[in-house]
Amino acid sequence: MNNNTLMPATRALHFGAHAVSKNRLYFSSLGMDLCDENGFPRPEFFTVYESLMDGGCGFGFLGNASVDAGARYNSRGLRLTSAAHAQALQPLFEAARKRGFPLGVQLQHYGPQALPSEQGIILSPSAIASSTILNAFPLARAVEMSNEQILRCIDQFTDAACHAQQAGASLIQIQASNGYLVSSFLSPKTNLREDQWGGSPLKRARLLLSIVESIRKATGDNVAITVRLGMDDGLGEEGQHAALLGEVMVALEAGGVSAITCSVGISETFRFFFKNKEKALAMSREGCRYLKSFVRIPVGFTGSVEDVAQANEIIGCGDADFVGFGRAMLADNHFIAKELAGRKDLVMRCKGDAFCFRDKKEPMAERVYCCVNPDYRRPEKLQLYYEENLK
Ligand SMILES: Cc1cc2nc3c(=O)[nH]c(=O)nc-3n(C[C@H](O)[C@H](O)[C@H](O)COP(=O)(O)O)c2cc1C
Repeated sequence: MNNNTLMPATRALHFGAHAVSKNRLYFSSLGMDLCDENGFPRPEFFTVYESLMDGGCGFGFLGNASVDAGARYNSRGLRLTSAAHAQALQPLFEAARKRGFPLGVQLQHYGPQALPSEQGIILSPSAIASSTILNAFPLARAVEMSNEQILRCIDQFTDAACHAQQAGASLIQIQASNGYLVSSFLSPKTNLREDQWGGSPLKRARLLLSIVESIRKATGDNVAITVRLGMDDGLGEEGQHAALLGEVMVALEAGGVSAITCSVGISETFRFFFKNKEKALAMSREGCRYLKSFVRIPVGFTGSVEDVAQANEIIGCGDADFVGFGRAMLADNHFIAKELAGRKDLVMRCKGDAFCFRDKKEPMAERVYCCVNPDYRRPEKLQLYYEENLK
């Protein structure tokens, strides 16, 4: 018997009756910023994701497909706002189908962390913009979303899910973490509403639950809906934390969600989590284990896991049903296949500086780069600039 068959991480994972992954390791949503200004993928986009699919993970997600053509993070992100966008992604989902690889797409509304609109407006539940956005755009103005705007947002997610289905996606991931729109509704710190969209954990989750319900109706149960749930924003007791989310987990399962991928952090605290990986990992393990206890669907997380041995230990002890990788996958798209083949010595390891994340907002960067992967190594000038200014 192959030793790998004894590893918890190499057992199959079922997304309800919709899709099966050959193992419990996934590449987390990673917006690589390889699209044109209209959100259509450039050729390198396909190269990276095909490479990731061949790298040993059982499933994975395309990062940050914006559901709102007007809400952007930068000018290079993916969009899924028309049939033409769906058509452009079709070859990738066809490539996934041929590999038997459940490939999903993350549906994203940037909300309070979006670039301000041309009128300088930022959409949010309670007129609270992210302080990182306000620092960069002091004249921007956050507005409290009207009921009409909220219903429009549900339609945008639903339309994007239909486009994803049309493109051939077998999984959809609703982005409800990291301080973006849906997560800002879930948070007691940024959602101060007292109408039907706020006031208690379940009411703050109403936007997310309505999106799930609407997508479920529109896609006719043909695609697995997953949720990326922010289980801790790093802001302590008054912010979002796992203890507030038990009922929400139950409601998500009842709403037909097939799996939940958890994560931690928002724009104000990403740096803290990237720099304190032991703390980040401990919080993720503890939060995930707690949230798992409310449901029977698979629950896992991404954040600060470095290798397959660590993932095995996490899954084996019951802290998560599956484990994802972000930066480790950027550094070496094939590191899981290499480790499973006993060739750890060949793995290019992430240095953990998170400069790749900084590339997303850096005017000098034309995409997300890496400092170890030769396929998209950061230009030397930019690398030096980061080393001198960001340490
Ligand atoms: C360059 C970069 C791009 C990312 N893009 C996304 C994204 O599109 N959607 C998302 O939910 N998270 C995104 N993330 C967060 C990752 O999915 C992951 O949660 C985070 O990197 C922590 O995991 P890690 O420690 O394994 O890197 C991104 C992270 C990085 C570094």
